[in-house]
Amino acid sequence: MKGVVLAGGSGTRLRPLTRVVNKHILPIYDEPMIYYPVKTLLDAGIEDILVISNAEHIGKYMELLELDFDANFSYKVQSEPKGIAHGVSLAEEFVDGEDFAVILGDNILLGDLSEEVKQFEETEEGAKIFLKQVDEPAAYGIAWVDGEEVTKIEEKPDHPDSDHAVIGLYLYHADVFEKIEDLTPSDRGEYEITDVNKRYVDEGTLGFEEVQGRWFDSGTPEGLFQASKAARDRKT
Ligand code: DAU
Repeated sequence: MKGVVLAGGSGTRLRPLTRVVNKHILPIYDEPMIYYPVKTLLDAGIEDILVISNAEHIGKYMELLELDFDANFSYKVQSEPKGIAHGVSLAEEFVDGEDFAVILGDNILLGDLSEEVKQFEETEEGAKIFLKQVDEPAAYGIAWVDGEEVTKIEEKPDHPDSDHAVIGLYLYHADVFEKIEDLTPSDRGEYEITDVNKRYVDEGTLGFEEVQGRWFDSGTPEGLFQASKAARDRKT
């Protein structure tokens, strides 16, 4: 299995921290944010990793990651932040027909998901998402679950009657690229990963797993702070 870390975007919710610095370089306690998604992939045995970021910052990741990790990194520029699904589409050549994991560069997973990732290759699932119950569901992609099935998925719904957030780790087969080709931009002008996952819901092939360990979206000041606190508590 291969891995893709999405570290582009514009980081608007973290301004002014992100005015001249890419979000994923910011510290989570004592390490750059991007170290966490990279470690999540490495812990799952994924060593072929594509890092996608914007033209201005990709060079920094090339410098940084080679210093502290022993993995096969590739790099790709996303010239405009056209959405997570657009970022994923840039990985098609790198993936080269294999199964792959996508992780958002601001998602901090402190629990162990390595077995779930490894098992994906043996399942019949079309794709797999990971869910975590949250207090503010309107801030995330939200899934509705009935038994073993995801029945619905929406991006940041206004007043959802489900609190199962879809975290930023997704497992796909290479046929996902055909689904991305059919997408149209959302109201906020982005190619949404939720719209990709909706296709699998419609087909009844979207697998899911509830995440047991702690998870943070560090793309907001509060998320960044809470993730740093949890990282410190774990290390001290
Ligand atoms: O954190 C989980 C949430 O992440 C999910 O629940 C949502 O369904 C999903 O859409 C996403 O929501 P966000 O609003 O938090 O996404 P954001 O725009 O902050 O982008 C998340 C990461 O993806 C960020 O670290 C940078 C990367 N990214 C984003 C965009 C829009 C890219 O690499 N390229 C892009 O064009």
